[in-house]
Formats: sequence, structure tokens, C-alpha cells
Amino acid sequence: EEHKPHVFVVLGASGDLAKKKIYPTLWRLYIDGLLPENTKFIGYARSKLTVDDIKEKCSPFLKVQDSEKDKVEEFWKVNSYVAGLYDKQADFKNLDTHLTTLSANASRLFYLALPPSVYDTVTSNIKSSCMTKVAGCWTRVIIEKPFGKDLDSSEKLSKHLAKLFTEDQLYRIDHYLGKEMVQNLLCMRFGNRIFGPVWNRDNIAAVVITFKEPFGTQGRGGYFDEFGIIRDVMQNHLLQIMCLTAMEKPVSMAAEDIRDEKVKVLKAVTALTLDDVVLGQYQGDPDGKTEDSKKGYRDDPTVPKGSKTATYALACLNVANERWDGVPFILKCGKATNERKAEVRIQFKDVPGNIFPDGQLKRNELVMRVQPGEAVYCKMMTKVPGMAIGAEETELDLTYNHRYEGVKMPDAYERLILDVFLGSQMHFVRTDELREAWRIFTPLLHTVESAGGPTPIAYKYGTRGPKEADDLARKRGLLYTGTY
Ligand code: BG6
Repeated sequence: EEHKPHVFVVLGASGDLAKKKIYPTLWRLYIDGLLPENTKFIGYARSKLTVDDIKEKCSPFLKVQDSEKDKVEEFWKVNSYVAGLYDKQADFKNLDTHLTTLSANASRLFYLALPPSVYDTVTSNIKSSCMTKVAGCWTRVIIEKPFGKDLDSSEKLSKHLAKLFTEDQLYRIDHYLGKEMVQNLLCMRFGNRIFGPVWNRDNIAAVVITFKEPFGTQGRGGYFDEFGIIRDVMQNHLLQIMCLTAMEKPVSMAAEDIRDEKVKVLKAVTALTLDDVVLGQYQGDPDGKTEDSKKGYRDDPTVPKGSKTATYALACLNVANERWDGVPFILKCGKATNERKAEVRIQFKDVPGNIFPDGQLKRNELVMRVQPGEAVYCKMMTKVPGMAIGAEETELDLTYNHRYEGVKMPDAYERLILDVFLGSQMHFVRTDELREAWRIFTPLLHTVESAGGPTPIAYKYGTRGPKEADDLARKRGLLYTGTY
């Protein structure tokens, strides 16, 4: 593999995702020497641009060190650019000619950094004009959410893709699957004897999976309003984390074995209803310290007047199988909240037959902090050091900054794009997983978005979200031990 040539095509090369994420990722992989030798890059978009134009657009995001100045010139030298329309087959034929001229016997990767409205035509055009026909070479297609808006539209897209490509040619990105701590769930759970026996409804009171961001839609209001927080973060990123937390041990570490177990968990999840959720929408804080924080969601000029789109959601899911039935899986996500945080928190039940003074024992919690600052820590009781005999809560703490000082944590996109080169689908979403994910959320989304749908509860920019959300989590069995 290593010496065979590869060509990576960025479709939508002039867009936001390309300049902010895809080109910087390709550059990182290139400078770190992780890509196969002889990899070349092609940008494709409608405008008549040159590589220099792309270079200029990307340069604020590439983060080139002084010592890397020569290398970055080398990087741009293996880049080229082709202008073409997304719905014109002749333009894709032209792209194919360019691909062949550049490297006659290369494997091909296509990244769709494009709006979903053109996924159908672009994938059809790739299939009809740009697949490699060279023996021993392959073609792979990478796409990102949104994969439809509900079960029907997603199934339509999946069927379309299935007509064009085999499952092993398709890489659906959920970038949370590329994060260190999310990948660590497998090692933590299945590489330690101590967790296996307690990982069930007899011992676990609740699981909380949190995503919070301290800023609003930041000019992406137009996109966001069409999808809302449930589709933007919960139905994909948080649900994926939940699968890895709840699934049975896979038969092996092979991608299909892992994905099989994830699908099984999803199949056991009951579809959500309005009773299982609390929705919120942020309002500006007149006393806010930044200009952004003074503005509410609806003050964003790209958001339609009177929008009822949720920017915060808490949902309680039930995995109705023998291991989990009755344990609330609380998925919680919000924009414009008090902090940046993503974590999984396993809260254990109270110790039976308590011999300590009332209220002294706190519930054990195992926390995997995804960001910021990767960490695994366990809240536990210990004797108050010294003469006293009482118990107090402390932490067994594995903070990566301390334990793995100086170890570079790759960005999620770097890992995932490298996986596509290597042909590893372990951290990508399979079609049946996606279908189940939509099955769980579609009835709820339809109810929420129907004419009589609920109005989200207002919460102030920079707060933890509506207090009704905490109330619901408590009612379902979570005992708040802090202000997460
Ligand atoms: C994206 C969402 O998928 O994830 C964004 O569309 C969100 O709204 C982002 O901000 C969060 O990603 P990260 O890696 O910064 O936690």
C-alpha cells in the first residue's frame, strides 16, 4: 500500500469546511509523514480558481511553523485544482482525465465537503465518470452529516448510495468517533477486569453524556435552524458515544464486529417521545461580557423570525435489553452554555447496607472527559486522612496532560482521514447504524416540528440551560453530585 500512489479529491474546495478542516488536516498528515508516499491532492469547485487561491484561503488555518516553510511549499506543489459544476457529467469526465494524467494507476479518495443538496448528483457523477478501473486500486467516498433529516430522507440517500457503491467504499464521518477518549471507551471497558462485572443495571444508576459549548451559532444560524441541536449533535455524536458505552463486548476488534454490536444497542433503544425530552433556546444576556453573549439565538440575522428551533436538548433514552433496561441514558447538549465540555459520566448506585453516617457516602462516578483536556477519573470514597475516621469523596485521576505529558493528541479529522487511506472502517458509521439512529429520533422530531409543536424553554446565554432539564434527569434517577 505504502508505495502505491493515491489521489485525494476535495469536492467543494473553495468552501468553509475545506479551508477550515480538510486542507489543514491533509497538511498535518502530510507534514507528519503519515500519508502514503506519492499522495496528490485535487481541489474541485465551481469557481475558476488556482491552487494559489486555495492556498491563500487556507493559509490562516494551516498553522505552519517557521521550520515548516519549505515543506508547505512542497505540499502545495502536489496540489492541483479543477473547476467544474456539480451536476455536469462532462465536468466529472474532465476531472477523471485530470486524475489519470496526474497518476495513471492511483487509488482515489473523494471527500464531499459540499451541501447535502448536491450529494445525490455528485455521487452519481463520481460513479459514472471517476471510479478507477485499474486492477489493485480502489475508490473511496467520504461524506459527512447531515445524512438526511429524518428516517425517510436518510433512507432515500442510503438507497441512492447503495446503488452506486458497496458499503466498503463508503466512509460516513462522525468526527466524534475520531476523538481520543471516545476511542478509549473500547479499551477502558474491555481491557479492564474491574469494570466488566459492574457495567449493568444492577450497579449503574444513570449514564450522562454531555456536550456543551460556550458560544452560539456564530453566523451559522441559517444552517443550524434547518437542523437544530438534536440533529446537529445528539442524534450522531452523543448517540455514537452512547453506543460505545452500552454495547456488548464485540467478538473481536474487527470493524464489522464492533459495528454489529453498536447496531444491536440501537435496536434495543425505545423511540423517544416528548415526555423524554426538555428543549431550550438561548436568549441574549444583557449583562453579557462579550458582544456575542448579548445576542440570543433569534437575534442572529440568518435565523428566521420567531424560530422554535432548539439550541439545547436533554433526552432520556432507555436501552430495553437485559443489561440496561431502566437505566436512564441521559443525553444532553447545548449551545451558548456556561462552558466547553464533552464527557461521559457513569453514576453508580448507592452502596447497599450503609454503615456510615447518613449522607456521608457519595455515589461513585466514572468520568471520561472527551474535552477539553482528556481525562479519565473516578469519584470514590476514601478515609479522611489523619486522625478522623470519616469517609470523604476524592478522585482517582488520570489526566492525560500529566500522565502523558508531551504526547501529541491527533485531531479527530486527522485520525479519520488516515483511516480512509488505510481502509479501516472501525470508526465510521454503517448504513444500518444510521437507520436505527433515525428510527429513535424521527417520531420525536416530527412531533416537535409539527404545527402544534412545543416552544423551547428560554435559557440565558452562558448558563447551564433550562432548569427543567435537570428536573427531568433527576426524576429519571440521576442524583446530581456537581454542576455538570
Ligand atoms: C459539529 C456541529 O458536528 O460539531 C457543531 O455541527 C459543533 O455545531 C461541533 O460545534 C463540535 O465539534 P467539536 O469537535 O468542536 O466538539
